Amino acid sequence: MRVFSTVQSMREWSDSCFRAGERIGFVPTMGCLHEGHMSLVRLAREMADVTVVSIFVNPTQFGPGEDFERYPRVLGSDLSMCEATGVDAVFTPAVSEMYAEDASTIVEEAAISRGMCGASRPGHFRGVATVVAKLFNIVKPAVAVFGRKDAQQLMVIKRMVRDLNFPVEIVAAPIVRESDGLAMSSRNRYLSADERMVALGINRALRWAEARYANGERSARSIAAGIGERISGGGVAVPEYVEVVAAEDMKPVSELGPGIMIAVAARVGATRLIDNVVLGVV
Ligand code: PAJ
Repeated sequence: MRVFSTVQSMREWSDSCFRAGERIGFVPTMGCLHEGHMSLVRLAREMADVTVVSIFVNPTQFGPGEDFERYPRVLGSDLSMCEATGVDAVFTPAVSEMYAEDASTIVEEAAISRGMCGASRPGHFRGVATVVAKLFNIVKPAVAVFGRKDAQQLMVIKRMVRDLNFPVEIVAAPIVRESDGLAMSSRNRYLSADERMVALGINRALRWAEARYANGERSARSIAAGIGERISGGGVAVPEYVEVVAAEDMKPVSELGPGIMIAVAARVGATRLIDNVVLGVV
């Protein structure tokens, strides 16, 4: 497995793959890798000839007071996981390699990114879109895989690729969960044992919503209210938003139905967690 920390060395390797007629599959990450990330890698491997993972904690997508400084950085074990999963190259640049001090160009998606996480984290999706655009230009993948756990991010990237004509196919991967239902996340590391129990309530509330839907509930407002009550019931988790939206454009809807997404963000202690479910046909 190759490890590149400069833009130039990454580019040269990508160019050599292109010349050899190999399609690059790409999984952008911020590291602290877990099974969720590795499921994306396996999907990329199935869809391409060679696989690249980027590991870069991107400062521009963190707001003031967020966890940029304390975001877990565990490069050694990340590289072992990549190697064990058959990754061909890892791109792990320093911040100074990615951003010139006077960088003054941004990529901003202006519709899908407005609500939900975009409303509670102003500037977050601008940072994500900008860094992903840069990574696409450096790695030059034919296919890039994103997880449905960050459903709004996935749709923002899809829209960016469409609007700016990036020659990249975006593939969506299902949410990988712990055996008790908690969605895997690098931020789960922040949780104490007690907080982890509370965090489980988020997924439990979504399961409750799915069951209500299967039993005929169709009101978005009442399901959102029920989820909010369930999450805050323990008194420790604080819901940031509970949204019922169309999965394609993240626009709020009033009626539940197939393809409708219920998305939640909540704080458990100091940790911000997100989760979602997409309703099926009943
Ligand atoms: P990060 O949080 O490291 O996530 C990298 C990718 O892994 C994202 O596509 C995310 O949706 C996916 N992922 C994380 N947990 C998952 C889970 N439990 N199941 C399935 N997929 C999961 O998302 C980012 O990094 C950054 O915003 C990035 C796109 C790299 C830009 O900086």
